[in-house]
This record gives sequence, C-alpha cells and structure tokens, in this order.
Amino acid sequence: MKDITIAILGSGVMGTAVATAILKTLDPKIIACGTNEARLRESFQDYPQVEISAGIEQNKDAIKKADVIILGCKPFMYQQIYNEISSSLNGSQLLISLLAGTTIKELSIFTPYVAKVMTNTPAKFGCGTAAISYSSETTQDKKDLVEKLISTIGLVVNIPEKNMDAATALIGSGPAFVLLMMESLIDGGVRMGLPFDIAKQSAAKVMEGTAKMVLETGEHPAVLKSKVCTPAGTTIGGLLKMEDGNIRSSIARGVEEAANISASFAKK
Ligand SMILES: NC(=O)c1ccc[n+]([C@@H]2O[C@H](COP(=O)([O-])OP(=O)(O)OC[C@H]3O[C@@H](n4cnc5c(N)ncnc54)[C@H](OP(=O)(O)O)[C@@H]3O)[C@@H](O)[C@H]2O)c1
Repeated sequence: MKDITIAILGSGVMGTAVATAILKTLDPKIIACGTNEARLRESFQDYPQVEISAGIEQNKDAIKKADVIILGCKPFMYQQIYNEISSSLNGSQLLISLLAGTTIKELSIFTPYVAKVMTNTPAKFGCGTAAISYSSETTQDKKDLVEKLISTIGLVVNIPEKNMDAATALIGSGPAFVLLMMESLIDGGVRMGLPFDIAKQSAAKVMEGTAKMVLETGEHPAVLKSKVCTPAGTTIGGLLKMEDGNIRSSIARGVEEAANISASFAKK
C-alpha cells in the first residue's frame, strides 16, 4: 500500500475515524487536509507519518499528489471545497465520499470514479459499519481498493444508492439511537439501586454481548429473545411493560424519520 497516496479532504470526526482505522491496518501515505493546522496536528498526534495540510494552497498540492481522495467535509461544503481544489484534479483519481445526502451524481464533478460510503463513529475502534454504492464508471480494481480501505473500519455492505437514506439513518445515526437505549438501561439500573459506573459498564457489555449473539448465531432477534423469557418470569414482565410504551414502533419510526430527513437534504 506504500505506493498509494490518500488525501483526507476534511479531517474532522469521520475523516479522522476512517483515516485512523486505515492506519491501524494498512500503510498508505496519508495527507490530512483541513483549514486548522493545530486541530489537524492534534487529531493525528499518534500518527507522525501522516502529513498535515492546512489552507487552500497546501490542500491543492495534496490533491495533486493523491491517488485517492476521502471527502470528509460537511455536505454543504463540498461545492466550495471542489472550487478550491478543482485545478489539482486529474480525472483518474478515486473519490471516497463520507457525506450524508450528497449524491453520486453531485460528487461526479470531482472524478467519474466515486464511492459513496455511509459509515459511523465506531469506525474509529475498528467496529464500524459501512454501506457503499459506486458510480457506474467505477472499475473493479477501484472497487477492490475501496473495499480494502473501508473494510479496515469493520463491516462493509454493498447497496444500491436508492437505499442510502435508509443506511444513513440505520448506520450513521444508529450509534445515537443505541446510546439512547443504553442510557435508558443505565437509568433503570440506577433507579433500582445500582451504582452508575456498574450500571454503565453492565449496560454496554449487555449490548455488546447481545449483538455478538445475533451476529454469531445468525438467528432472528425474536428467536433469541424468546429463549430468554421464562414463563411468568422477570424478562417477559419487563418486555410487556416496554411494549406498552410503544418502544418498537418508536424506534422504527425514529429510523424512518432520520431517513426522510436524509432524503430531504439531497433535494435541497
Ligand atoms: N459524525 C458522524 O457521526 C457522521 C456519521 C455518518 C456520516 N457523517 C458524515 O461525515 C461528514 C463529516 O462529518 P463530521 O461530523 O466528521 O464533520 P466535522 O467534524 O465538522 O468535519 C468536517 C471537517 O471539514 C474540514 N473543512 C472545513 N472546510 C474545509 C476546507 N475548505 N477544506 C478542507 N477541509 C475543510 C474541517 O477541517 P478544519 O477543522 O481543519 O477546518 C472539519 O474538520 C459529513 O458529511 C457527515 O454527513 C458523519
């Protein structure tokens, strides 16, 4: 991988998370681009091999050297950033976009070879999920390179672009939804007398362990759930109380709402 140069154009939360995952496994040359040199240096302080680039002129030089551009800016910024660096694009570079909402067609101003990736913050810990769609021009060797780079963050799934708003809601916003559920478990434990730290660690481990059970058995969650329910026991009692509060449709409708908001971004 040493012969590949990657420019992270917008090295904020997501750009840094993806760059960190790549650096933990592979050894491409990485140039972290942004506007604030101090912040960039702080983000990559554990990775002295990463070149820092701040400001339009330096970023233009970085893009000239890049085989792959990972776009990690906020969606509304992409056009302005394109205007800043467009003279350095050579038409054969591969663009990996982390932007929510922005379509492959919109991103094709950078290059015909576009991979639109929706991922999430657990990427930083190698435990992320990434959904990928490609522009029709993207060749198999470029797709293989995207797969190699992005699989460093965790699970990769390929989906058609029409499903990207759903992926944005489930994968991108998903950690916030799960954290809300985790907070509720912690609150319940604390309410019934557990010290906060023990409730927090236990809730996180229960969620990790349960996720592992689903991933490793491949069973439907409902099947695993029914195995935990002893007749007349504690679990079925707790579950029915939660269902009284419409927990299932509240969560599913929350995903629906996030997907609709993502779709509305693309229309603007
Ligand atoms: N955060 C999430 O959980 C999440 C999940 C899924 C998808 N996403 C997507 O990831 C993208 C980034 O989100 P984020 O939360 O990582 O945002 P962020 O932390 O604000 O990062 C954006 C970065 O863009 C850089 N930037 C601003 N102007 C620039 C310019 N002219 N040239 C180069 N870089 C510039 C900024 O760098 P400086 O600080 O140096 O100015 C900033 O670090 C978004 O499009 C979002 O849709 C985020």
